[in-house]
Amino acid sequence: MRAVVCRQFGPPDLLTIEECDVPQPGPGQVRVKVQAAGVNFPDTLLIEGRYQLKPDLPFTPGSEVAGTVDATGEGVTGFEVGTAVLGTVPFGAFAEFAIVEATTLMRRPASMDPIVAAGFATTYGTSIHALTQRAGLQPGETLLVLGASGGVGLAAVEIGKAIGTTVIAAASTPEKLEIARAAGADHLVNYASCSLKDRVKELTGGKGVDVACDPVGGDLLEEALRATGWGGRVLTIGFTSGTIPRIPANIMLLKGNALVGVHYGPFQKNFPDVNRQNFEQLFAWHAQGKLKPLVSSVFDLSETTAALKLLANRKAIGKIVLTVGGTQ
Ligand SMILES: NC(=O)c1ccc[n+]([C@@H]2O[C@H](COP(=O)([O-])OP(=O)(O)OC[C@H]3O[C@@H](n4cnc5c(N)ncnc54)[C@H](OP(=O)(O)O)[C@@H]3O)[C@@H](O)[C@H]2O)c1
Repeated sequence: MRAVVCRQFGPPDLLTIEECDVPQPGPGQVRVKVQAAGVNFPDTLLIEGRYQLKPDLPFTPGSEVAGTVDATGEGVTGFEVGTAVLGTVPFGAFAEFAIVEATTLMRRPASMDPIVAAGFATTYGTSIHALTQRAGLQPGETLLVLGASGGVGLAAVEIGKAIGTTVIAAASTPEKLEIARAAGADHLVNYASCSLKDRVKELTGGKGVDVACDPVGGDLLEEALRATGWGGRVLTIGFTSGTIPRIPANIMLLKGNALVGVHYGPFQKNFPDVNRQNFEQLFAWHAQGKLKPLVSSVFDLSETTAALKLLANRKAIGKIVLTVGGTQ
């Protein structure tokens, strides 16, 4: 099979496309014939050896797939060969076949095409987990989303609207903010040109938001904490800015608010039933037209390097997807 291979940690240019053996599913695993694979920010860190997970070399990157069931391992039920599916893997998705744990694999709704499905699982799965299980976001509350035109951020904007909250989208350019507005955001803040905290306070009549969702980190995390009101919850999801901030604990004390960590991988593994319920809700919202996943760029597997560079250079909007096999 054709696969992207990382033989040494480094920039995307070092990746190669090679002929590899088709992997065999072990107990509890499913081999998926990949039609399309989503590109995610952690892929850019993984190939450079800068992610919390460091696979043995050589390995195939890619953490999100859409395709059809090709073979099942011992003990797997409910996934017949040919079933349309979507799912996530720690790595191994940028290939014609990928091995996925059956507990995290989802049947793909007929209304969702493989390209959209390939960019759905990680970002929407992370954002719904963050907003519901971690923040307990309620209808009528106010939600601030940073990096609001990126994969996780745009999903959070849409889910926030589907839950019935007022959404303040924050991003670094007017073009990115317009993407968030089109996804339903009620208010926009450009944090490259004004103080996030001051503008959010203005927009909320001095009260601050109930929940903030932060996939960016750096100085913005502290600003987001200062932009919440009493009892606010701030979700720390990622550090695309490149800086893991240190936060003064007195902010939490003074405002009675909480800094809440989000780690989707272990949640998926340890709470598969809750994760499945989350996806039933996401698929229902998608069928109702409340979620409109934005895939802004589609590349062939042979163009993986270009796709990863787009993401790493802060140029991506919504999701980038690689087509692998046929998508019909
Ligand atoms: N905790 C978890 O379980 C979990 C799960 C999934 C993803 N994540 C993490 O969430 C973060 C976002 O992932 P994503 O797939 O949504 O990424 P993405 O699509 O690239 O979006 C990230 C956003 O970060 C902002 N950003 C700020 N500085 C940046 C820089 N130097 N380079 C690139 N982007 C920068 C950009 O928005 P502006 O230009 O508007 O600032 C961009 O839209 C990543 O750190 C990822 O590892 C965590």
